[in-house]
Amino acid sequence: GEQYRINIAIDGPAGAGKSTVARKVASRLQYIYVDTGAMYRAVTWFMQKEGISAENAVKVLQMVQNMVIELKPHENGQMVMLNGEDVTPYIRSLQVNAEVSRYAQIEDLRTHLVHLQRQMAMTKGVVMDGRDIGTTVLPDAEVKIFMTASVRERALRRFNELDKAEPITLEQLEADIARRDKLDEEREVSPLKKAEDAVTLDTTNMSIDEVVEYITAYCIVQMDGE
Ligand code: DC
Repeated sequence: GEQYRINIAIDGPAGAGKSTVARKVASRLQYIYVDTGAMYRAVTWFMQKEGISAENAVKVLQMVQNMVIELKPHENGQMVMLNGEDVTPYIRSLQVNAEVSRYAQIEDLRTHLVHLQRQMAMTKGVVMDGRDIGTTVLPDAEVKIFMTASVRERALRRFNELDKAEPITLEQLEADIARRDKLDEEREVSPLKKAEDAVTLDTTNMSIDEVVEYITAYCIVQMDGE
């Protein structure tokens, strides 16, 4: 029968493979992919460049309100544009990793980005990944997936993706992931938390293709059954 356009929320901790999976599911369904982590990363990169610390919430908000943030589809993920400049190459650095959780704790910054994210999803047909999509950004999303994997497995995946010029060991990555999990789970505003109506998917022993297959099939059922 007729298929309905739906919104798909994919949440979970750092390195669970959300972005790769979300991008591939979006491509399979011919939906739009929205990487919300990239938005927090782009803002962090910009503030670091301008020397505005996460403690200076007033200044951060003022800068963000005057900023044009765009996400554009790209073969290997997504391009992030700040005021027309492609900042994609800068936002996955260790320097951004180290501080993005701190900027992500600024309540007014979250409100601003959540507003943008809701606008992006207004027409439906969006696969959005992040930490608070099912709980806060799109509480009415028709599909909510909470993707997890063990800390060790997530560190391994990041390690294999990393630019080998970055001087970091697997053990350091593991510690970094555990630290960011804690910050993301314990922050007061929109902590990382499974939505009550989300389906948990532990991907520790699954390949990317298996995860993509599982989620796509699940979405197609929901699209028919609305
Ligand atoms: O998914 P990622 O590693 O690119 O996310 C980067 C950081 O942004 C991470 O510390 C959590 C934060 N984040 C968030 O607080 N809310 C989101 N919706 C997405 C990311």
